[in-house]
Amino acid sequence: MHKHLLVTGGAGFIGSNFVNYWHEKHPQDKIIVLDALTYAGNRQNLINLENSPNFFFIHGDICDRPLVDNLLEAEKITTIAHFAAESHVDRSILTPSTFIQTNIIGTFTLLESFRHYWQKQNQPSAYRFLHVSTDEVYGSLKAHESAFKENTPYAPNSPYSASKAGSDHLVRAYYHTYNLPTIITNCSNNYGAYHFPEKLIPLMCINILLGKSLPVYGDGQNIRDWLYVKDHCSALDVVLNKGKEGETYNIGGNNEVKNIDLVELICQIMDEIAPNLPVKPANQLITYVKDRAGHDRRYAIDSSKLQKELGWKPKATLESGLRSTLQWYINNQQWWQPLLSTDYQKYYQQVYGTFK
Ligand code: NAD
Ligand code: DAU
Repeated sequence: MHKHLLVTGGAGFIGSNFVNYWHEKHPQDKIIVLDALTYAGNRQNLINLENSPNFFFIHGDICDRPLVDNLLEAEKITTIAHFAAESHVDRSILTPSTFIQTNIIGTFTLLESFRHYWQKQNQPSAYRFLHVSTDEVYGSLKAHESAFKENTPYAPNSPYSASKAGSDHLVRAYYHTYNLPTIITNCSNNYGAYHFPEKLIPLMCINILLGKSLPVYGDGQNIRDWLYVKDHCSALDVVLNKGKEGETYNIGGNNEVKNIDLVELICQIMDEIAPNLPVKPANQLITYVKDRAGHDRRYAIDSSKLQKELGWKPKATLESGLRSTLQWYINNQQWWQPLLSTDYQKYYQQVYGTFK
């Protein structure tokens, strides 16, 4: 049976990578993207699909219940892949309310709508509600602590991660209360093409190309566990096709790196592959800046459940994924230049004190 997917947030970073991936791998499936096109949503990310008969774009909000109800019925949706969210921790510190609205109320709206629709169809067991979540719900690890497992207690520390934790709890409750066929995935830090400039890797890459300073928070010793976005997409494919309803799967690349080491590596690769850099070697641009409030020290994901039970493995190494990502930003300046808008500069000034 061909799937009819509703992909929320499909114009954002991971959502658009997922839609492009899915369409190539499963061209017979119908994909409907529902996206509010916030600052982070960009139809350019989906430009390759615009003429495909199996792709449709709906500009709308996941909190709009009548819209979601109509979409599920009209498009005979079998699968929701829910990516739509406010996703940036620094913005959640500045304006938490939009995170509560989209991440909690938005997820609740989708769950309610899907529940009624699914019940009306006599509860088909093949339907799925895939909730794409984050490792940040598990909180922060100390140096000696072992990586997050699916049963690690939740301990979110930022308004962003607290709102994601709230949405995870709702999804869990809908499985236990109504038997709604949900699956939750908790993934580590992604990187790759179409990543909005505010996030660490694209920010460093773009600033190197522009000769701007490279702001490293605090002492630069915080650790993140990096996963190439295409490996995240292949994991979600496996989860949607083989995963068990009601389960949670952790997804990660086993690539724990200190921020400062990652920034040094980005500088080194950019020195090698980017032509005519304004400042070279690029690491002269590194500047330590005021730490993020409540900055989590370390994330690490144990994805052995996914690997053992569903047979998934990431393909990219940090070095290979980073090289193709940085090359993509070098080749696609017309994609990111317009994103450095007045609004973005205003945001940048709020976080970093200057847009130099
Ligand atoms: P993103 O910020 O790049 O994209 C979010 C998308 O959601 C945008 O297209 C935006 O327009 C859309 N959106 C926002 N509010 C909406 C609303 N109310 N209605 C409809 N659409 C709305 O985010 P991302 O980095 O691609 O993350 C996607 C999902 O994956 C999020 O749920 C995030 O929590 C999760 N996640 C991200 C990472 C990461 O490293 N980026 C890691 C693990 C999990
Ligand atoms: O772990 C998964 C999460 O990864 C996702 O759920 C989030 O949506 C995603 O944004 C990401 O969150 P982080 O806060 O880890 O990502 P970010 O790219 O913002 O920052 C990565 C690390 O780099 C973090 O320790 C903060 C630091 N940093 C970030 C920026 C933007 C800096 O040192 N300087 C910066 O300018």
